[in-house]
Amino acid sequence: MSIGVFEAARPVIKGLIIAVLAIIGAYIGHWVHGATLNDYTPVQPIEFSHEVHAGENEIPCEYCHSWAGRSATAGVPSVETCVGCHKGLTEVRDKPDVVKLFDYWERGEGIPWVKVHDTPDFVHFRHKPHIRGGVECQTCHGPVEEMARVTRRVDLNENLRMPWCIDCHTEEDVANGRDCLTCHY
Ligand code: HEC
Ligand code: HEC
Ligand code: HEC
Ligand code: HEC
Ligand code: HEC
Repeated sequence: MSIGVFEAARPVIKGLIIAVLAIIGAYIGHWVHGATLNDYTPVQPIEFSHEVHAGENEIPCEYCHSWAGRSATAGVPSVETCVGCHKGLTEVRDKPDVVKLFDYWERGEGIPWVKVHDTPDFVHFRHKPHIRGGVECQTCHGPVEEMARVTRRVDLNENLRMPWCIDCHTEEDVANGRDCLTCHY
């Protein structure tokens, strides 16, 4: 009799076990994904849109990131660079984020942009050899000119981890590209 009940309940128990495993699996998957593999899109102090500037208005990347081909950092434009152009753009002068821009300018303050792509201090990444070597901005940063907010995309740069650097250096056959001291010194 009790065996009969057990037999009858078997598919239900099996189903329950599968359901519990599925939930645990999804939870672990979600946790791993959340911990290591998430895209990153910080909200900036001013809603600056690359889609409007680099996309629709075709302002070249190096107009604002003028250091990329010349030094280690690509750099972010000064408030003066923004205002220099925006003084002539009366049609958007009253938009809230443009008003904010002029407020920073009048207070003589820099805009505290939040870094999106960042490597630890013990890694020496420099833009110059990459730009000189013909690597496109978009290869590492994605189609920035289509982004209203800059996103660091995990599918493109694996969160800037070491294997990402090494794999490309191997593929491109970069001289000394896998020597520890090329990136750590
Ligand atoms: C009109 C000026 C301007 C132009 C043109 C421009 N940018 Fe930017 N860029 C900025 C500003 C300001 C920031 C900082 C705020 C932000 O992240 O949106 C920024 C941020 C970025 C970042 C993220 C920086 C970080 O912290 O990791 C990347 C990558 C970037 N720009 C790439 C590009 C590329 C590629 C182009 C050309 C397709 C381009 N930008 C054109 C002004 C500009
Ligand atoms: C070389 C010219 C130029 C520079 C430099 C520039 N902008 Fe602009 N910006 C524009 C143009 C063009 C528009 C679009 C105007 C329009 O829609 O009629 C615009 C639009 C905007 C808008 C309104 C976007 C919207 O909602 O339509 C904001 C906010 C803005 N810019 C902020 C900035 C900031 C911050 C900087 C400096 C990091 C900057 N701009 C540098 C040309 C420039
Ligand atoms: C080989 C990959 C690669 C290429 C190509 C590349 N970047 Fe970067 N970029 C990075 C990495 C990695 C960082 C983070 C650097 C750090 O934390 O020191 C970064 C950071 C930035 C930043 C944040 C400020 C800074 O200088 O650290 C901006 C802006 C930027 N890149 C713009 C550009 C632009 C514009 C181009 C094309 C002219 C470009 N990048 C090409 C990998 C790349
Ligand atoms: C998409 C490909 C690609 C990625 C990703 C990449 N690199 Fe490079 N890197 C290159 C190329 C190509 C060169 C060589 C340019 C040349 O021919 O001088 C280079 C050169 C360098 C150099 C200079 C080597 C020398 O001897 O002068 C350093 C340092 C460097 N990369 C660090 C990094 C770091 C750190 C990362 C990851 C955060 C990285 N790279 C990611 C393609 C890449
Ligand atoms: C092309 C650039 C590059 C080369 C070559 C390179 N690394 Fe790295 N390394 C990185 C980057 C970027 C990081 C930071 C991101 C990360 O932790 O993966 C890193 C991180 C590390 C870390 C810290 C790991 C952690 O979890 O915090 C160690 C240790 C390390 N590297 C050792 C080495 C050794 C040993 C070599 C030589 C066999 C080497 N690296 C070669 C780019 C490089």
